[in-house]
Amino acid sequence: KRIILIGPPGCGKGTQSPRIKYDHCLCHLATGDMLRAAVAAKTPLGMEAKKAMDSGGLVSDEIVVGLIEEATKSPECSKGFILDGFPRTLVQAQKLDEMLAKRAQSIDKVLDFQVPDRMLVDRIAGRWVHPASGRSYHEKTAPPKVPGVDDITGEPLIKRKDDNVETLKARLSAFHEQTAPVIQYYAKKVIQLQAQKSADEVSKQINAALAK
Ligand code: AP5
Ligand code: ZN
Repeated sequence: KRIILIGPPGCGKGTQSPRIKYDHCLCHLATGDMLRAAVAAKTPLGMEAKKAMDSGGLVSDEIVVGLIEEATKSPECSKGFILDGFPRTLVQAQKLDEMLAKRAQSIDKVLDFQVPDRMLVDRIAGRWVHPASGRSYHEKTAPPKVPGVDDITGEPLIKRKDDNVETLKARLSAFHEQTAPVIQYYAKKVIQLQAQKSADEVSKQINAALAK
């Protein structure tokens, strides 16, 4: 299966991806995680992406399409993949479809994580992440066993640089203006999720959708 997770910042894409990966044996490709790794490693691509990410805007289509084109070629992804945070513009969606068509592949389902904007402020403000794995926690709804420490590695958790109210506003505008049209583009493949519900409830909705 090849599936796309689409939704505003903090809607739960990064929380549900590892669960879907585990349940359905798919690889997890998150452009945000790939870009943050490039920024941390100070690669030329990371240097170029940093400004847009820090301000809450979108990185160029060329950069993210290149990342996904490479990543989807890996043998690990031959059984299928979860795209988390990609495509985010109509151009990215068209390029993705062209790329898959050349490989006689296509997207099976698009999961549309619907959460009212007002609920996203708390989700973002309470988030703590383990940068190396991309795992995320929440102070209230999904706390780590020991505060500030990753459950699995014992390494410290951090706040994402773009997780502040000001940058969140810009990320939300980018979502409504540039990414919402992508949901229309895939209209026939879209499954709407009530993603304001608890993480376990959302997982149930996803498993029901993917069983069809
Ligand atoms: P990216 O990393 O993709 O960020 P985002 O889309 O803003 O999404 P988030 O990672 O903030 O949210 P999420 O949906 O993963 O939420 P999570 O599960 O962690 O992108 C970052 C930047 O990179 C972009 O701004 C852009 O600059 C650039 N970029 C990336 N991809 C790009 C592309 N394709 N094109 C151009 N630029 C690109 O959950 C959030 C919190 O809520 C957590 O604390 C979690 O524990 C909690 N939570 C999750 N689910 C629930 C629930 N059901 N109930 C209660 N709490 C929950
Ligand atoms: Zn995420």
